[in-house]
Amino acid sequence: MSLSSKMSDILYLLFSKIINLYYRLENNSKSKLCIIGSKSKLYQEAKVINLQNNPSKIVIGNNSHIRGTLLIYPYGDGISIGDNSFVGEGSIIRAANKIEIGNDVLIAHNVTIIDTDSHELDAGERAESFKKMLKEGHPKQPGNVESKPIFIKDNVWISYNVGILKGVTIGEGAIVGAGSMVTKDVPAWTVVAGNPAHILKSNSGGGIILITNRLGVYRDAWYNKKFA
Ligand SMILES: CC(C)(COP(=O)(O)OP(=O)(O)OC[C@H]1O[C@@H](n2cnc3c(N)ncnc32)[C@H](O)[C@@H]1OP(=O)(O)O)[C@@H](O)C(=O)NCCC(=O)NCCS
Repeated sequence: MSLSSKMSDILYLLFSKIINLYYRLENNSKSKLCIIGSKSKLYQEAKVINLQNNPSKIVIGNNSHIRGTLLIYPYGDGISIGDNSFVGEGSIIRAANKIEIGNDVLIAHNVTIIDTDSHELDAGERAESFKKMLKEGHPKQPGNVESKPIFIKDNVWISYNVGILKGVTIGEGAIVGAGSMVTKDVPAWTVVAGNPAHILKSNSGGGIILITNRLGVYRDAWYNKKFA
């Protein structure tokens, strides 16, 4: 091996070590902005923007994998994500109120979930607030901006390029088709799609989960009756 190729190998090794160190430090600082469970991971492309600087307002359970952006406003109850869930690349979850995501939820790439209108409906107020924000930074209070919590229940699958608006609850086991805009609640175990999203069909894919849930309800009813 020539001296020059040895040198380029050493330089390459050094360079990759520096890059790795940079990403490790960056990842450490990201995970300080939230509470993150065991085996969960914030990937290199993930972003955590915590305008409250309060880690307890962004909570991620165990074994959940985040490639998108989690952003909370300077007010509101923040974001919680359960266990075994996934947020894809380019997806953005922005909470000014509250966004609750359950367990075993798959969110594909380029999904946008926002629980606020972000701006006032009144044009004059909107222009004034925008100018004020440019001068003084993000407002510390919601003012006249409307927001409502969003709930995404267990076993939901949200396909790519979907938008979810304020106040929506997506019921357990529901599937949202690619490119949909969800403006109203989605019933559990249904497949919805379109703009605005509407029910296409029921989702019989619940299988074992549906049966065990149903058995759990019967078991609890029997137990409560026996020991009440
Ligand atoms: C939700 C999804 C899985 C449903 O697939 P499916 O069960 O095979 O649905 P079908 O193809 O049988 O479609 C049923 C009907 O809904 C319509 N439809 C399906 N997906 C739609 C969508 N995203 N938007 C609008 N209409 C849709 C179909 O045109 C069809 O209409 P018709 O009955 O008038 O012919 C699929 O549409 C989808 O979004 N796939 C993308 C998954 C994804 O995001 N993967 C990325 C990695 S997580």
